[in-house]
Amino acid sequence: MRHLLSTKDVTRDEAIALLDIAEDMADVANREVKKLPTLRGKTVVNLFFEDSTRTRVSFEVAAKRLSADVINFSAKGSSISKGESLKDTAQTLAAMGADAVVIRHSASGAPRVLADSGWIDAGIVNAGDGTHEHPTQALLDAFTIRRRLHGSGARGKALDGVTVTLVGDILHSRVARSNIWLLTTLGAAVSLVAPATLLPVSTTGWPVSVSYDLDAAIDSGPDVVMMLRIQAERMNAAFFPNAREYSRQWGLDDERVARLPAASIVMHPGPMNRGLEISANAADSAQSTVLEQVANGVSIRMAVLYQLLSGSAA
Ligand code: CP
Repeated sequence: MRHLLSTKDVTRDEAIALLDIAEDMADVANREVKKLPTLRGKTVVNLFFEDSTRTRVSFEVAAKRLSADVINFSAKGSSISKGESLKDTAQTLAAMGADAVVIRHSASGAPRVLADSGWIDAGIVNAGDGTHEHPTQALLDAFTIRRRLHGSGARGKALDGVTVTLVGDILHSRVARSNIWLLTTLGAAVSLVAPATLLPVSTTGWPVSVSYDLDAAIDSGPDVVMMLRIQAERMNAAFFPNAREYSRQWGLDDERVARLPAASIVMHPGPMNRGLEISANAADSAQSTVLEQVANGVSIRMAVLYQLLSGSAA
């Protein structure tokens, strides 16, 4: 693997291999010394043009656990805020000897531009680009689902027959797009539930079913309900009447969680709007995997950096 730009590019075998390497990396987290010498001498640059807590910090932890040097570079506080272009920024990082660049950008396609540009000879990891994709989030979500379903026997397994319902702001969600491709590649059946205004104009070509009725979806007893954040910062119009009405129709409230089968899991990529798309009780329930997703993000990002920078299995 040279770059990780989209889960559309990841085959089933590659995805299972990454999840298996992440299992090995998770074992490292349980040791007293949580560090491997694997990427000693390599430099990973976190290049964030958009805000992040989970993704940026977990890439930093992941790179450090593999003994790489890490440079954190955000648009705020750098020469990007003075108008420096992506090309000049990339060439500056190349001159500093970056081996991998983890990039988050508001423009869909920015990581692909960097990978195809020739400005920098480094592995490029998409850490979220506009409304397009967030592949490491989908990988950590698949890892979390697989671990919950298969426990210690997860290695080598896919997600065949697992039912996953994605709920909410599909229109603006790069998490939804990456999950749709990855989870279906792994054999899951993905359905979308959202108000019509928060779905793309067309989902033709997407391997999903679509509905507008969260209660019917809950009563069908999905294995996984993944709630998506309402992305107010990307909304330039009113997509629903008001927050109360959105919560009433499409929020995962206490009553809906209670109706789910006990074995169903509740996911959210974070950051959460508690009380809007998910109630506090649902977010903190035993069925919620929100914090597991964060912890698993470190293992997945270790696996991705390892695959990119060492090019062989652990
Ligand atoms: N899930 C996610 O991408 O969170 P951050 O925006 O905090 O990185």
